Amino acid sequence: MSVSPDILSAAGSIPSSCLHRIFRAAEAKEQESGTDVMKLHVGDPYFDPAANVADAFVDAVRRGETKYTGVEGLPALRAALVEKLHTDNDVDSAVSRLLISPGSCQGLAALLQSLAEPGAEILLPELHWPVHLQQSLLAGFRPVLYPLGDGFRPSAGTIAAAATPRTRVLLINSPANPTGVALDRGELGALLELARSRGWHVISDEAYEHFLYEREHISVASLERDVPVDERIVHSVFSFSKSFAMTGYRLGYVSLANDRAADVMKVAQEANIIGTSTPAQYAGIAALDSRAEATAANRKLVQRNRDVALSPLVRAGLLDELPAGGWYAMLDVARTGLDSETFATRLLEQKGVAVVPGNGFAMRPEVDGQGRIRSHDFAPWARHLVRIAFCVDPVALETGVRKIVEFADECGGGGHVSAG
Ligand SMILES: Cc1ncc(COP(=O)(O)O)c(C=O)c1O
Repeated sequence: MSVSPDILSAAGSIPSSCLHRIFRAAEAKEQESGTDVMKLHVGDPYFDPAANVADAFVDAVRRGETKYTGVEGLPALRAALVEKLHTDNDVDSAVSRLLISPGSCQGLAALLQSLAEPGAEILLPELHWPVHLQQSLLAGFRPVLYPLGDGFRPSAGTIAAAATPRTRVLLINSPANPTGVALDRGELGALLELARSRGWHVISDEAYEHFLYEREHISVASLERDVPVDERIVHSVFSFSKSFAMTGYRLGYVSLANDRAADVMKVAQEANIIGTSTPAQYAGIAALDSRAEATAANRKLVQRNRDVALSPLVRAGLLDELPAGGWYAMLDVARTGLDSETFATRLLEQKGVAVVPGNGFAMRPEVDGQGRIRSHDFAPWARHLVRIAFCVDPVALETGVRKIVEFADECGGGGHVSAG
């Protein structure tokens, strides 16, 4: 697919993501049919934040805590997060290196802006969250997509082979969206070692830090806690959205590797946001007060969904194994004979279940010297992948999964591969 040559901005050359397309299609289907669609396409949880979170937000508004905070965020929230990172993540952060952002998505965007240099490249996995790719392009990076190995796992050797002298950043996302892969200490250590030996920065997106189902989460930055601050390279990005079910509050934070990086990102934030919503930050302080109970309860709800609702997909041969972490599972629908776009379209049409075609997580852009996408295609092996979210209402999830299996069985081996 190629883009019109008169597109001048990088933003103008980026196609809208698969997530938005399916979002609109699901809404349209609901309106047209007057019935509920089983929405397995979006990572929004069915559970709510603890009651003290809403109270803290409302109290802050009623107290008139509705002015700007500093660009870095409320000192009390930043101090509480430094303590959380120290105790829970074994990360040695500091208030001077901790910035609050309106959602971790915006924190990531500002971090990328503050690390981008003309001609610099960023390493992303071939199967990635589309927002990571979009943000890299908007910040001015040239994305370089490296192949994943068995079970969608990255390896230092493959990444080293994909790197060039222009590589500046390696992005790590564990547990990963969309694959659910969680890297262990040894794997993270090898990636960090490689980045350090090549002089790269590491961005560690840990939005799903509280959703690991068999073992504990490892923060990459914990592996360099004994390195002098000025020599550290890991910038860690965290979110309140998933851990505390606070998606609509829009609250995240970035723990920068060192003070220099924090100063640069502050400039980006001053220009981008001026500051983060003040009441949302008070809600964040309340969420941290009850974090042990809230995060354990939320993990349990999603784990139950995973264990109960996804097992039929494994039995039906549509999923190799239950995901180790995160909120998503990548199904392989090759046995239906349908490509993922056709599968998703027909599933929505015939069964009222919304899923995301895997193509959208495997776009391979051809970028020109000005950072604009000139053409793109999709990794061919993603042609039969479909992503579902398992953080949704258990009844909708179980019904949706039952219909997916039913639909796959109806297609049998005789489905029709479309040209798309
Ligand atoms: C991998 C990953 N990182 C970051 C985010 C952004 O979360 P938020 O901006 O709500 O903090 C998401 C949201 O889906 C995600 O999947």
